[in-house]
Amino acid sequence: MRLASLIAPPLLILATLTSCTSDESSESSNAGELNLYSSRHYDTDLALYKNFTEATGIKINLIEAGADELIERIQSEGAASPADLLITVDAGRLWRAEQAGIFQPIDSQILNERLPEHMRHPEGLWVGLSKRARVIVYNTAAGLPEPLSDYADLANPAHRGKVCIRSSGNIYNISLMASIVSRNGEAVAEEWASGVVSNFARTPQSNDTGQIRAVASGECQIAIANTYYLARLAASDDPADRAVASAVTILFPGQGSNGTHVNISGAGLVSTAPNAENAVKFLEYLTSEPAQLLFANGNNEYPAVPGVAASSAVVALGDFNEDTLNASELGINQSAAMMVFDRAGWK
Ligand SMILES: [Fe+2]
Repeated sequence: MRLASLIAPPLLILATLTSCTSDESSESSNAGELNLYSSRHYDTDLALYKNFTEATGIKINLIEAGADELIERIQSEGAASPADLLITVDAGRLWRAEQAGIFQPIDSQILNERLPEHMRHPEGLWVGLSKRARVIVYNTAAGLPEPLSDYADLANPAHRGKVCIRSSGNIYNISLMASIVSRNGEAVAEEWASGVVSNFARTPQSNDTGQIRAVASGECQIAIANTYYLARLAASDDPADRAVASAVTILFPGQGSNGTHVNISGAGLVSTAPNAENAVKFLEYLTSEPAQLLFANGNNEYPAVPGVAASSAVVALGDFNEDTLNASELGINQSAAMMVFDRAGWK
């Protein structure tokens, strides 16, 4: 993060705070407000804010930026920070916020009851609100490359020159590796990583969508990507995107073992929150069924609350058993995961 990005122009903040209020008619309300720092930017999120304000009278002031920038902004604002809630994606980023000391425990019976234990930080510092799975895709026309049923198989010498995956600096890969470290220890994780590196079809490059496209084109036989990128391609208005989606097949890894690795979009209550009560009310609202649908659909994710149906594009990806490793383990093992990647020579 460059120093310049830490210093937010005051006028810009003011403009954001006043222009992004979700409902000007609520100005007369005495229900108070909520200052939301979010790295999400979906139309469905705007509907969520509007619905919440209509139901409670609580006005939402929104600041949107990248997760790391928001964490640093809250840190630099210190005790005077207006931030109440930080919403971001990936347990690794929630862990960075936790390490920065900007969260306080959330105390809510409703959240504890609605959200499964593995979707909540053990001390309540953050909660998961939707989830994504990190899956294997392969080229449908070329057929299932065997053996291939779990992440472990990506290291099998049978797959020399077939595997595409993005770089080790990517947080989705770091969190996947953190789950492997947590489940199996660093030695097993490193052996796996070395095997995968030996199977690379190309030097790690591009994003998750780029991996899917490379499988569709036949440049690679096998790749790893998050589910929402597949749902997004399948539901695209562009026929070329839909052709890419239909040229690949999804495989949910680990169905015979720990389940498929999942990660979360989540939120933490800022330790200096001036409107903590309103923030908890908003989190509780986000776990209601209609809000879960809107929140998850914004990015083609799975709702975090059990029993809430995913969008049709997400349901079409298929059913799977997820790894119920607590999402906090993905944070705790971030640095070990990065060292494993380094030792294995995973660029
Ligand atoms: Fe993403």
